[in-house]
Amino acid sequence: MEKKHSRTLVTCALPYANGPVHIGHLAGVYVPADIYVRYLRLKGEDVLYVCGSDEHGVPITIKARQQGCTPQDVVDKYHRIIKDSFSGLGINFDIYSRTSSDVHKENASEFFRKLYDGGKFITKESEQYYDPEAKTFLADRYIVGTCPKCGAEGAYGDQCEKCGSTLSPEELLNPKSKLSGAEPVKKKTTHWYLPLDKYEGWLSEWILDSHKEWRSNVYGQCKSWIDGGLQPRAVSRDLDWGVPVPVEGAEGKVLYVWFDAPIGYISNTKELLPQSWEKWWKSEDTKLVHFIGKDNIVFHCIVFPSMLKAYGDGYILPENVPANEFLNLEGDKISTSRNWAVWAHEYLEQFPGKEDVLRYVLTANAPETKDNDFSWKDFQARNNSELVAIFGNFVNRAVVLTHKYFGGKVPAAGELLDIDRAALAEIPALKAGMEKNLDGYHFREALKDAMSIARVGNKYISDTEPWKVAKTDMDRCATILNVSLQICASLAIAFEPFLPFSAGKLRDMLGVCICAGYDHRAGERETVNTYTCSEGAALHTVPAGHDSACCQEDGRVCLKWEMLGNPDLLPEGHTIAEAALLFAKIEDDAIQAQLDRLAAIREEKEAAAAAEAAKVVTPQKDEVTFDDFMKMDIRTATVLEAERVPKTDKLLKLSIDTGIDRRTIVSGIAEFYAPEDMVGKQICILANLAPRKIRGIESCGMILMARQNDGKMRFITPAEALCNGAEIG
Ligand code: MF3
Ligand code: ZN
Repeated sequence: MEKKHSRTLVTCALPYANGPVHIGHLAGVYVPADIYVRYLRLKGEDVLYVCGSDEHGVPITIKARQQGCTPQDVVDKYHRIIKDSFSGLGINFDIYSRTSSDVHKENASEFFRKLYDGGKFITKESEQYYDPEAKTFLADRYIVGTCPKCGAEGAYGDQCEKCGSTLSPEELLNPKSKLSGAEPVKKKTTHWYLPLDKYEGWLSEWILDSHKEWRSNVYGQCKSWIDGGLQPRAVSRDLDWGVPVPVEGAEGKVLYVWFDAPIGYISNTKELLPQSWEKWWKSEDTKLVHFIGKDNIVFHCIVFPSMLKAYGDGYILPENVPANEFLNLEGDKISTSRNWAVWAHEYLEQFPGKEDVLRYVLTANAPETKDNDFSWKDFQARNNSELVAIFGNFVNRAVVLTHKYFGGKVPAAGELLDIDRAALAEIPALKAGMEKNLDGYHFREALKDAMSIARVGNKYISDTEPWKVAKTDMDRCATILNVSLQICASLAIAFEPFLPFSAGKLRDMLGVCICAGYDHRAGERETVNTYTCSEGAALHTVPAGHDSACCQEDGRVCLKWEMLGNPDLLPEGHTIAEAALLFAKIEDDAIQAQLDRLAAIREEKEAAAAAEAAKVVTPQKDEVTFDDFMKMDIRTATVLEAERVPKTDKLLKLSIDTGIDRRTIVSGIAEFYAPEDMVGKQICILANLAPRKIRGIESCGMILMARQNDGKMRFITPAEALCNGAEIG
C-alpha cells in the first residue's frame, strides 16, 4: 500500500543543453510527466513540477569546439530553444532553470563540501590520458583512435560509433588527442569517489525488498546493478567546464556532471522557493517522483539516492521512478548526429496549432514497456480517424445542434431512456479506469480510457440522431442534446491532462473552466494556497485546503476531476459559445514533406555506409616466393579493338598489342567499360597465363584489374604512356 502524501514533487530529467529536444525525449519523459502533473492538479493536489537544463559535461565542450564558440554560448542557445519548446507544447514547469545558475553552483558546491567534510568520499589515484601539447587531461570523448573490435578509424575513448562497442580509452589502438592531434600520455591524477559498495545493502533493502511495484524495466536494471556488485564512482573530473571542486588542491577539477545534475533538482526548487523548498525535499509527507528515460535509471535509482543518503539531513527518496524505454522513428533508432529525429521546435513551427496532436500520438505510442515506433502515417491516421473523426466530430455535432435548435442554451433534459442512461453510465467506469492507470503511470492505457468517453459520445449521438428527432419531437431532441453536452463537459475534464490546448478550447465552447493548481510563489509570500484558474484571470486566493469557489461568481461552471461523469455538469439554460474546430484533418502533402525529408537522410546514410564498406580491403593472401613471382610475365599492352561477346552481359573480346604479338583476350569487364572506352587504352596484362576457351573464344592472357570491396573494377594503366611489352615486376 502506498502511503498517503500531502504533496507531490515531480521532476523531469534535466535535458542536456547541447541540442534541442526531440520526440524521443518528449515521449519518454516530458509528456508523461506533464500528464501526471495536470492530473494531480485537477484533483486539487499540491504539486511542484521541476526541471531545467543540464549544462555541464564533456559533450557541451565538444559542441563549443565544433562551433567555434564558448560552452556558455552553446548552453545559452539550447537552453532557450528547449525552454520554448516545452512551453510551446503546454509543458509548463513551475521552474525551468539551469545548472549554470549561481544558485546551483553554490548548492552543488555545498553538497559536495558536506560529503567531503563528513568523510563520505574516498580518493583514488589513477593514470589517465593527458595531452602533452594542450597540457590538459583528456576526457574519454576527447581521445580518438582505431577501434580494437572492428578496426574502424575515429572510435572514441568511450565508444565506437561504428560497431557500437563500449570502450575504455586504453583499448583504443593508435590513440590521438582530439584537441591537438598529439599522442596522449598516461599521467597520474587524483579523484574523489563515492563508495557505492557501502550502500549496497541499504539499496537492496530499499529497492529490491520495498519497491517491487516499480516498473519491471526499472526494477530489473536496479537488480542487475546491485547483484553485480557496486563499485566506487568518481564524482570529479579533470575538465575546465563545470562546478569547480570546492576543496583545496583541486585546481583544474570540476564535479562530474552526473554528480551535479541531479542536485540541480534541489537547486531549482531552492531558486523557486527560497523559504519553503525544504518541505518538498525533506518531509516524509512529500511524494517524490522522477520521470526519466531508461538510460538514466542507474543515476536516479542508485547513485543519486546514495548521495542523498550520504548527505543525510532528512532528504527523502523517490517513491517511484517511472522510466520509459526508447522511441524509434520510422523503424530506426533516433540519432541526433544524423538528424534522424523529429525536433520539438521544428514541429511547432511546421504544425502550428497541432501541439495536442503530437502529445496525443506520443502518448498513444508511449514506449512504456518496450521500445516503440513513431511513424508519420500513424501520426496522420491517429489525427484523422481518432481526434477528428471521433472526438472532434462528436463535440462539433453536439454544439452545432444546440445552437441550431436551442439558441446556444443547454436544453432541459426530460425523462431519460435506457439508451441515455447506458451512455452516461459508461463514463464513471471509464473514469475509474483512468484513475487506476494514471496513478500507476500507465499513460497510454489512461488515454485509451479517455478516448473511450469520446467514442461513447460519438456513438450515442449517431444512434439517437437528434437531427432527425428534431423534426418530430423537440423535447426528446432536447434530452439527447442535454446528455450529449454533459458528455462533452466530461471530455473537457478527461482530456485536460492529455490535450490541454483542445480541452481549453472545449471549455471555452462550453463556458466552463477548471481549477488547476496552486501558484507556489504566491503561496510562499502569503502563506495561503492560491489557485490558478484556467481562465487565466486574476489568481483566486483561497485559504489553505482544496475548496475553491473560484469561478462560480462570474457565471462560469468550474469543473474538477471528481465531477467527471456527473450527468448534470451543465445546468439547463447555461449559455455555450459557437462551435470552434477542435481538430483539423492532416492532408497527405504535409505528411509526404516529412517523409521526403527523412528519405533524403536515409539515402545519405546509405551512401555513406556504402562508401565505408567499399573501403574495407580483403586480407593479404598466402605468402609466395620471389621465384613464384618471377614466373609471372606481366607487361604493358594496348587495346586495339573491343567488342561485346554476344549473348553475355559481362564479357568483352579485346584485341591486344602486347609488343610481342597481337592476340585476343576475353575479359569480364563489360559491366564497367563499354567497348569504345577500351579502344586505344594502355593496360597491363598477365601474358603467360595458359590459354582458356571462354564462350568458344580462345583467350590468351588476362587483363589486370583492381577490384574494390563493393565490386567496382578499374583497369591498371601506367602513369605515363610506355611502349607495349614493357615488363612489370
Ligand atoms: N542530462 C541527462 C540526460 O539527458 C539527464 C540528467 S537528469 C539529472 O540524459 F538528474 F541529472 F538531472
Ligand atoms: Zn568498432
